[in-house]
Amino acid sequence: MFLHTVLAGCLLASSHAMSVTSRSNSEALQHSPPSAHPSTIGPVTELTIANRVIAPDGFKRSATLAGGIFPGPLIKAQKNDNFSINVVNQLQDKDMPLSTSVHWHGIQQQKTNWADGTSFITQCPIPPNRSFLHQFSTNQTGTFWYHSHFSTQYCDGLRGPLVIYDPDDPHKDLYDVDDESTILTISDWYHDPTIVLNKILGPITNNSTLINGLGRYPGGPLSPLAVINVEQGKRYRFRVLGLSCDPSYNLTIDGHIMTIIEADGVETIPETVDSLPVLPGQRYSVIVHADQPVANYWVRVLPNLGNQSFSGGLNQAILRYKGAPEEDPTSSPGPSTLPFNEAKLASLMNIPAPGVPEIGKADININLVAGNVNGLFTINNVSYHNPPTPVLLQMLSGAQHPSDLLPNGSVYELPPNKVVEITLPNTGAALGGPHPMHLHGHKFAVVRVAGNSTPNFVNPIWRDTVSMGTTIGDNVTFRFVTDNAGPWFFHCHIDFHLNNGFAAVMAEARNQLPIVSESIPDTWASLCPTDNPYTASQLGSFNTSILT
Ligand code: C2O
Repeated sequence: MFLHTVLAGCLLASSHAMSVTSRSNSEALQHSPPSAHPSTIGPVTELTIANRVIAPDGFKRSATLAGGIFPGPLIKAQKNDNFSINVVNQLQDKDMPLSTSVHWHGIQQQKTNWADGTSFITQCPIPPNRSFLHQFSTNQTGTFWYHSHFSTQYCDGLRGPLVIYDPDDPHKDLYDVDDESTILTISDWYHDPTIVLNKILGPITNNSTLINGLGRYPGGPLSPLAVINVEQGKRYRFRVLGLSCDPSYNLTIDGHIMTIIEADGVETIPETVDSLPVLPGQRYSVIVHADQPVANYWVRVLPNLGNQSFSGGLNQAILRYKGAPEEDPTSSPGPSTLPFNEAKLASLMNIPAPGVPEIGKADININLVAGNVNGLFTINNVSYHNPPTPVLLQMLSGAQHPSDLLPNGSVYELPPNKVVEITLPNTGAALGGPHPMHLHGHKFAVVRVAGNSTPNFVNPIWRDTVSMGTTIGDNVTFRFVTDNAGPWFFHCHIDFHLNNGFAAVMAEARNQLPIVSESIPDTWASLCPTDNPYTASQLGSFNTSILT
């Protein structure tokens, strides 16, 4: 009901603005006074979400941006820093959603589910001209990112890197450089706002690929490409981030191999590859040794859909050695002899999978079968849609029986301190894969990876976003322990698929929620509109339960 109100509001707003064309709207925005856009911010910061016209591939469009830039500023923290991020909503371009919420992808939000930034799961969206302060801490380190978790808003631009550096990194002897210059974000880019794209039935094709926010589109201008500067002899820790809405990318660097040392914030036993698949939501750290002759080399990211070409600089960036001329590379890709194999990834800390080491023998075993009915994705035959009030509010208000949690059929209640096993059989019914399946609130042990039928309970890779594979018969399986109270979203990270219902909610450890409510700020409930009776009654019992 609430969603309908919001949507109706948007529709009314945009038809009201019909006399103002989107072009003049864009120009007005473009001529707003220039402001400084720091590209690195700290863990204690303000993050302003605003519309601005940018042309990262040479095509001007109004975008929804964090900090006014694309990708958004690097949020840079050190291990054990406390985060205090005030998200300020200054959105005003009615061609795109005006509400927002920002999710910190991969950060586990132990005891702070309310700060997870997930619209309709952990909070109400932040209305325009309002702000919301997220305070959380973590002992995690590694490569993360943040993005809008409202509709498909991150495809309109709201996405950026978040890195927690570890002064005691066990891998630190393996590289010389790890700073802003070694961050490599890969994203798709669209010339139309997603309100338009979401009306397309069937696959949506991106116009360009951006590496560190720069790229080109077929037939477009020779817009500048990203240049990654290196010095011969040094070893670089490239932090590769899959910020994509839809395509998966295969990363290669002409003349260079890569040694994986981190996957999704988990240190791995070093594993050397010459190509690296990066699905939406996934991150890797790879060490690249600048051990080749001084020259320029192409960095290639081949998408699995859209323009699968390297002509004219498409899907490319430049690796430039110090002393090389400022020219395009003339390098060519080598033959692949060290292909990526997810089954070979293992966590450096050798953390075994929890529970009895046999498929189906966890405390709780849940089989999630993905499908597609009339264009809507389903999990166990139910297509996810946003509930009228956030699942966390429903759980806290305790106004109903646990099994009544909305949205009906999409919420899986999980008791505390149990080992949960999720199996994701690939029946071929959910088209458009490989689907990157992401769970909030946890990293999980992938005991069976795509393309492999042999489980690994001994030293599996732990990560937060895993490929469901492309082969019918794949049955990707992962485990985690229910040690983090709150509702956690589980979904395909292809944002258009999520928007079409490819999601479920893990409602974890309800009886431990008092730990979470301790730190909920007053502003949290005030984000929710009180103009419908359902929300009002939920808020009412929430306030009563908090006060008593
Ligand atoms: Cu990047 Cu719901 O996640």
